[in-house]
This record gives sequence, structure tokens and C-alpha cells, in this order.
Amino acid sequence: MSYAADLVAKAESRSAAFGVIGLGYVGLPLAVELARAGYRVVGFDISSDVVAAVNDGKSHIKDVPSRVLAPLVESGKIEATREMGRLGEVDAISICVPTPLSKTKDPDISFVMAAVQAVAQAVRPGQAIILESTTYPGSTRELLVPRLHGRGFRIGEDVFVAFSPERVDPGNAEWQTRNTPKVVGGATEACQRVVAALYAPVFDRLVPVSSPEAAELVKLLENTFRSVNIGLVNEMAIVCDKLGVDVWEVIDAAATKPFGFMRFTPGPGLGGHCIPVDPHYLAWKMRGLDYRTRFIEVASEVNSEMPAFWVRKVAEQLNEDAKSVRGSSVLVIGVAYKKDVDDVRESPAVDIVRLLQQQGADVSYHDPHVKALKEDGVNLKSVSLSSGSVAAADCVVIATDHTSLDYAMIGKEARRLVDTRNALNRKAES
Ligand SMILES: NC(=O)c1ccc[n+]([C@@H]2O[C@H](COP(=O)([O-])OP(=O)(O)OC[C@H]3O[C@@H](n4cnc5c(N)ncnc54)[C@H](O)[C@@H]3O)[C@@H](O)[C@H]2O)c1
Repeated sequence: MSYAADLVAKAESRSAAFGVIGLGYVGLPLAVELARAGYRVVGFDISSDVVAAVNDGKSHIKDVPSRVLAPLVESGKIEATREMGRLGEVDAISICVPTPLSKTKDPDISFVMAAVQAVAQAVRPGQAIILESTTYPGSTRELLVPRLHGRGFRIGEDVFVAFSPERVDPGNAEWQTRNTPKVVGGATEACQRVVAALYAPVFDRLVPVSSPEAAELVKLLENTFRSVNIGLVNEMAIVCDKLGVDVWEVIDAAATKPFGFMRFTPGPGLGGHCIPVDPHYLAWKMRGLDYRTRFIEVASEVNSEMPAFWVRKVAEQLNEDAKSVRGSSVLVIGVAYKKDVDDVRESPAVDIVRLLQQQGADVSYHDPHVKALKEDGVNLKSVSLSSGSVAAADCVVIATDHTSLDYAMIGKEARRLVDTRNALNRKAES
């Protein structure tokens, strides 16, 4: 039997074993879905804490409850290890390691390279390797394929390669790993067939595209689309502020148009591991081809100016009480990058806190999901949220609109309020 036919048969009988490299926000939910579909899963991570927690059935990812993970670990469906040499044991490998930016906003592909190197050392004929990490177009063929060729393997005959972008949206109760359509771009027709067979039992719907490059660009288009549109409404928030018009009223009315308009909302700026980061992978790639991706640059510029815009709004509010930012107490509510998650990576709330501190404000914060904040020179612990703590602040800033908070109380008690998310009015409406 050919290696391709063997892998397809193992997928159909669920006797294939899957390796997942990187057990973070993307890798752990994927490992759980692979196991639920019937595969045995070995998770590989360089963090001993992550490996120990997973082997204990304890999840460090909010979207994966321990009560879901624990039975899969107990029944032997999922195990975790730091031993990369064991990659040769499994039939398919999904790579889910981070792809951050360097200080100069260039792609930092060191994690992908380390994972690819580990795969290249352990790879054997009859394995499928799927890159899931968001990266620039061309990565799969430029970074992964040559190392497999280097081992003497033929792509599409001995080993099978695809790019399949992870689309997980942390905190989204409706769209999760399984029911979000999964794009797959194989390096050859056989690669596509094998990876589609392996993933078919795991995802409700597969979306085949003709190449890894197309799949890489799908992910970058999706996140660039969000970044550009968020940049546009953030600029509209600044425009409305200058004109004395309520931007939320304008957006709500525009959104009644049944065609040709898609609602995006302004806020404190971009956060998280994806939207502020991914478009720069494309911009970097295109710079190398002598093309400047202007929409990406402008959106990034507008979005990254938003924390300073909101800090100016705080200064204006304090001014109404004849107070300066220096010496005033400011309570920031919500520091995670978006509602109902505990992730503070790239969170614009951290920039707001830092800018206020730099201007001499006495800043405290409350976030039900983030007990301590140690980022970017900011080092604070979450204070409790009560009518007392709200009323005691000279100004309150709502940076993230977590669902569980009592916005009616905040609106009633705050002496001065800057609501970057329109949380108060939305709560009042609903
Ligand atoms: N977080 C999201 O919402 C999201 C959504 C879609 C796509 N993505 C993309 O998925 C990828 C992973 O992101 P994430 O948020 O899951 O990252 P993460 O930081 O949550 O997890 C990555 C994990 O990989 C481990 N790791 C790092 N290097 C490793 C190596 N060489 N070998 C084994 N393990 C290693 C880390 O210890 C960590 O546990 C990124 O490319 C990201 O852009 C993320």
C-alpha cells in the first residue's frame, strides 16, 4: 500500500496518532478536538509547566475546561511530552507554535524554525505535517519543505505537507475549533487528499484551496481585513469626536443598511496575538518584493494611536473638575485585550495604563480575568470592583467590556468616565 493510502486508511479507522507541537491557545483546543474525533494525540511543548499540567488533566487555556481535558488524558487519548524525538511515533503532526513580531515589527519565525527542525530530525516516511501557525505566504514551501527534501523524502509520496490556518477565536462560545470551517492547502494533490482525510473527522467543514500559499494568504486576508476595518472605525471615532457627533449613534444607524455595510466598532486599539501582528507578516513579505502594503501601514498607525487618544479623553474629563492627570487616581476597568478572555498580549489597555502612569496618574485596575498585570513596565494587581472603589477614583476608564461586570453601578458611581467600548450604553439598551 502507498504511504498516502495507508494514512487515508488510518484516518478512516481513526487508528492514526496525531502529534500537536505547541499546546497553547491554538494547540490545546486542536488536541482536544483530534482526541474527540477518535485519534490518539501526543502533545509536544517546550514548557515543562504546560506538559505537567496537561498530563495532570489541568487546562491552562480558558476555552478548554479541565473537565473536558481530564477524561481524555485519563483514557490515554491525550498525553503531553517535551521529548521531541517522539515525533517519529505519530502519523500526523500539526505545528501550532507562536509567530510573534520582533521589536522592529519583522516576523519572528524562530519558534516555527525550532519546531520544523525538531520535525526534520524525527520525520519518517508515511507522515503528514501540517503547519497551522499564522505566517507569511511561502513559509510552508520555504521553511518546511526543504528540510524534508534534505532528509531525502519526496513530498506527496513519502511525506505529506499542508498549510491549514488555525482560526480559533478565544472566548467565542458559538464558533469554536470544530464548527469553524477549516481551510487546507496541500503542497501536492496527494498531500491535499491525505490531510483532508485526516482532518475530515475533526472539523464540520473543510475548505480546500489549491496550494499552501493560498491557505497562508487566506489567514492573512482575514486578519488584515479586521485590522483595516477596525482602523477605519477608530479613525471615524476620532472624526466624530472632533465634530461633536456620537460615533456609536452613527455606526448603529449605518448598520441598519441591509447590504454593503459591515459593523465594526471602535475601541482602545488592537490587541491579542493575531490582529496587530499578522498583517505585518504580509507587509514584510511584500517589502521584499518591492511593494508597500499601504492599507496595512495606515491601519496599524491609526490603531496604535488609539491608547493616546483615550488618555487625552481622560485628561479632558479631569479638566472638567479642574484636575490634572498628574496626581489623579484613575481606575482602568478591563485590561485583557478583549472581553471575557484572560489574555493581555498586545493589549491596548496596558498602553493606556502605562501612558497614564507616565503622566503621573495613580493608576489601579480591575479585571475579573487578570489577577496581576506585569507587562511592558506595568506591574499592578487587580483591585476589587465595588461602588466604593469606583466612586473613589477621579476618573474611570472602561478599556475592556467583560460581560460579568455591573455597568449600571459603574455608570452611577463614577465621578468621571471614559468608556472606550460604549459598554454603558449597550448594557442600558439590552
Ligand atoms: N491565539 C489565537 O487566538 C490564535 C488564533 C489563530 C491563530 N493563531 C496562531 O497560532 C499560532 C500559535 O498561537 P497561540 O496563541 O496558540 O500561542 P501560545 O503562545 O498560546 O502557545 C504556543 C505554545 O507553543 C509552545 N512552544 C513554543 N515553541 C515550541 C517548540 N519549538 N516546540 C514545542 N512547543 C513550543 C509554547 O511553550 C506554548 O505553549 C500562532 O501562529 C498564532 O498566530 C493564534
